[in-house]
Amino acid sequence: MDQSISFTLNGKPLTVATDPSRPLLEVLREDLDLTGTKYGCGESQCGACTVLVDGVAVRSCVRTVGSVTGKKITTIEGLSADGKLHPVQEAFLAEKAYQCGFCIPGMIMGLVGALQQKPVPGDAELLSGMHGHICRCCGYPNLVKAIRRAAAQARK
Ligand code: FES
Ligand code: FES
Repeated sequence: MDQSISFTLNGKPLTVATDPSRPLLEVLREDLDLTGTKYGCGESQCGACTVLVDGVAVRSCVRTVGSVTGKKITTIEGLSADGKLHPVQEAFLAEKAYQCGFCIPGMIMGLVGALQQKPVPGDAELLSGMHGHICRCCGYPNLVKAIRRAAAQARK
């Protein structure tokens, strides 16, 4: 049965009327037209659907929309501010860390979440924190460069 579910999405308060057991990813993409967040595996295995919930990176394919009541959701569409890309987005651009681009929104949100949890991570810790983000184009060399560049910027 549908319920009214309220949360903050990319800085704006929002209420949706829907079945609270639906995946957050489905509501974002199909009801709210926020298609930057991708559907990859649907089983919490690839990271393509990563968004921030209260600043923590979560896999929106396995989070119900009902579970985010009252929380702050940030998607890739909400990352830039005042017309400026987020530094992590800039790092991915600078390192040309994309091929088809499908995995990139999830990678970026995962990295932003990791850097919010620990702004000055060690290199090994940083890379192991990104395990579970899968790039089907296997663009890992440039992805690793982008991750290191973003972390180096965060350390400054
Ligand atoms: S679509 Fe959610 S982790 Fe793959
Ligand atoms: S750039 Fe194509 S899946 Fe990663």
